[in-house]
Amino acid sequence: MKIGVIGAAGKIGQMRVQNIIENPETTLVAVMDMEMHRAVAVAHDAQAFTDLDRFFETDMDAVVISTPAHVREALCIQAFERGFHVLTEKPLAPTVEGARRIVAAAKKAGKALGAGFNMRYYPSFAYVKDIVASGVIGEIDHVRVYGGHDGLGHFTHDWEYQAEFSGGGALWDVGIHMTDMTRHILGEITSVYGVATNTVWNVPGSEDNAIAIFKNPKGIPAIYQASWIDWKGYKSAIEVYGACGMVRGTYAPMQNLLITMDKPGGVAKKTRKFYPEIMLREKLKSWKTTAVASFGAELADFVRLTRAEAGLRCADGHAGLRAIEIAAAVPESTRTGNPVTLKNLGDMTI
Ligand SMILES: NC(=O)c1ccc[n+]([C@@H]2O[C@H](COP(=O)([O-])OP(=O)(O)OC[C@H]3O[C@@H](n4cnc5c(N)ncnc54)[C@H](O)[C@@H]3O)[C@@H](O)[C@H]2O)c1
Repeated sequence: MKIGVIGAAGKIGQMRVQNIIENPETTLVAVMDMEMHRAVAVAHDAQAFTDLDRFFETDMDAVVISTPAHVREALCIQAFERGFHVLTEKPLAPTVEGARRIVAAAKKAGKALGAGFNMRYYPSFAYVKDIVASGVIGEIDHVRVYGGHDGLGHFTHDWEYQAEFSGGGALWDVGIHMTDMTRHILGEITSVYGVATNTVWNVPGSEDNAIAIFKNPKGIPAIYQASWIDWKGYKSAIEVYGACGMVRGTYAPMQNLLITMDKPGGVAKKTRKFYPEIMLREKLKSWKTTAVASFGAELADFVRLTRAEAGLRCADGHAGLRAIEIAAAVPESTRTGNPVTLKNLGDMTI
């Protein structure tokens, strides 16, 4: 598969470029960014562009879009109009309407839309998904999910936390991965009730903290929190409770706990996973090695998504859209005091 990368010189764009070069099924054919010297620096054997029309004239099958969110809608729509598959970073767009237009453009073109929820590939979270699917903890009773960090000091660019560019605050940033993780494990989220607050950082439109209850169509709930005021630092976690056990996945550190019982309240068997090779690799190199590995696995799945293969871990356009609808629904629920009902989107097919 021949792939071009827009925003290739950025922090994430460079990781995407590395993945495409390393994957035997993909070839990097073009890179584009705002300044030629930065594009050339990451081009390897591919062509470098600053002009979007010339970039789109390249003979290729798919485009990876790693720009900030506020410029992505136009890029995604043009890519679909040119007949390319698209893998784009999270959040899909800074507005619900923009995300819906991107999904509509993908459907009209009959091309695959991959949403960059790479945390699905973090081994501790993939383990949670696989354990739940195996049925060993029984029917899901409820989920607890969390994503947080210590807020504005975490960011290198203003666009990362200003709602006009990013869509909003903690719900759109660290929280959006765990919103998606909840849907990935619990199934579609069709009800959202919550409280978003903005009294610490006071960035207009960007919540510091959001506490919510999500429900799937069967009414099974998830207790959710996204935070920019976690003074302990970056952490994401999910716990799934079933009738015969529970499973927890965290990052960082990458860890799992699994408890299984033969019946509710039976003798508990505990299994813990610590991923020492990942901890050592991160200590010797950087946490970025974990991100790059997840982007690489996501790319491999995205290639299969373009072939309309089923049963993938990869997030599709509906996953990208629903995560944004939920990020918008929590502040709406805060304003009205009522839950927000969302229709069941299901999987997105090409
Ligand atoms: N999945 C994750 O874990 C994760 C982590 C961090 C960031 N992200 C997302 O990835 C995206 C990029 O973040 P980043 O940290 O790499 O930002 P960055 O600023 O390092 O990189 C963005 C790049 O896009 C380029 N760019 C901007 N507008 C462009 C345009 N119109 N055309 C072409 N290039 C353009 C910039 O010049 C820059 O090189 C953001 O949406 C962010 O939310 C995802």
